[in-house]
Amino acid sequence: MPGVYLLGVGLVIMLAGLLFGYDQGVISGALDGIQKQFSVGTFLLEVITSWVTLGAMAGALVAGGLADRMGRRWTIVFAAGLFVAGALVEALAPGSGILVVGRLLVGFGVGVASVAAPLYAAELAPSRVRGRMVSLYQLAITIGIFIAYFADYLLINGDKWRVMLGISAIPGVLLVLAILPLPDSPRWYVKEGRHDEARAALHKVEPFADTDAELAAIEDLNAKEARGSWGEVFATRWRRPLVIGIALAVLQQFTGINAIIYYADKIFAAAGFSTPGGQSLATLWAIGAVNVVATFVAVAWVDRFGRRPLLLVGSVGMGVSLIVVGAMFEVLDRHPSHGGGTSTTGVVTLIALVTFIASFAFSLGPVVWTIINEIYPSHMRGRAVAVATAANWFSAWLVSQFFLSLVGLITEAGTFWLFAGFCAVTFFFVRRFVPETKGKSLEEVEALWGDRSAMRAAIAGTE
Ligand code: BGC
Repeated sequence: MPGVYLLGVGLVIMLAGLLFGYDQGVISGALDGIQKQFSVGTFLLEVITSWVTLGAMAGALVAGGLADRMGRRWTIVFAAGLFVAGALVEALAPGSGILVVGRLLVGFGVGVASVAAPLYAAELAPSRVRGRMVSLYQLAITIGIFIAYFADYLLINGDKWRVMLGISAIPGVLLVLAILPLPDSPRWYVKEGRHDEARAALHKVEPFADTDAELAAIEDLNAKEARGSWGEVFATRWRRPLVIGIALAVLQQFTGINAIIYYADKIFAAAGFSTPGGQSLATLWAIGAVNVVATFVAVAWVDRFGRRPLLLVGSVGMGVSLIVVGAMFEVLDRHPSHGGGTSTTGVVTLIALVTFIASFAFSLGPVVWTIINEIYPSHMRGRAVAVATAANWFSAWLVSQFFLSLVGLITEAGTFWLFAGFCAVTFFFVRRFVPETKGKSLEEVEALWGDRSAMRAAIAGTE
């Protein structure tokens, strides 16, 4: 049955993304209940909140080597096992110490999966749908965040936190079930010298394509490459793709996306949404749902329009809306009376935030993950993707950890304008350095790094 394997790959990547989004989002609603039950102080609450991100960073780093050694598929199974275990430890934790252990396990699992799952999908998908396949990952992240917001909303009374944390074991189990019948990626098989399995895997996902030609291209490149090592990842020869991947990963976070995701309620409160119910509804729909819906744009068009146009248009949309959000806070600062009830300022802020989220969702959200997973040469892809992904997690941690202090230091307006500045940096960086990878096989993308004129054409869009 043609297509069924491709659907299976889609399912794997979606389940991995769902876990990522859900685990990232659900904790804010659970904190209250945890605090009541264990009477923990602020520091421990912060640890319980943010160590998932640090665990994910460590997981991402380890995942590179694992994915190159054990294969993409077993690495995903390992990650799923970790967060099933972590979710159960969290749900059953008798005290705050064990809860922290559960958080670290979950974080570590999410981190490993955040490297292995998109990598697996990017390597297994035919190039005509590769962007779309990796964008499915982002779509699932946004659905996970939406479900988490919804759970937070239900958790307002704070007594069901164990259920909400434990529930993420279910998609973890489903992930194992979804991936077991699938093959590993053909590119990994070739690296391991398992050519028959590589051929079979290629044939399964694209039964009507010219499997032999594709296999020959993968093998040809593999024969020329050194074995992937950490030394290779940082070798001068590959400096350019390494820097591009890390820069995009960091910029994705420095544009403030998770500050908005985590602190949306607070931002809406400051902008004049006075009741907690009103704030959490605004967050659920204006941020959570818009994030999901706008991601469809990328899923539908990333392989048609290409990566560069989406990134360029998106970073302009994000930058402009952040400038407006900042300006609204400036108005609020000067005329605090405007802050009561949902004033014009509040409504404009809401519209600007919706525009920001929508612009992120069709551009930097999905496309950064897509590019990170397609620009590295095959022999070091696992490790290089891991470095870029870990940089993304570290930046996410930095922003969410220091957002409130930053607001204290340079005000809300200043903070949003700073994020807007990073949108401008993203725009110019993409325009100057990021090649278009739409429609190219991973082997063709790899060839770009050694071919100046092809690279210039891929950046200028003149191929
Ligand atoms: C980012 C996450 C973010 C999410 C929001 C992802 O691409 O990596 O940090 O929370 O998008 O939709």
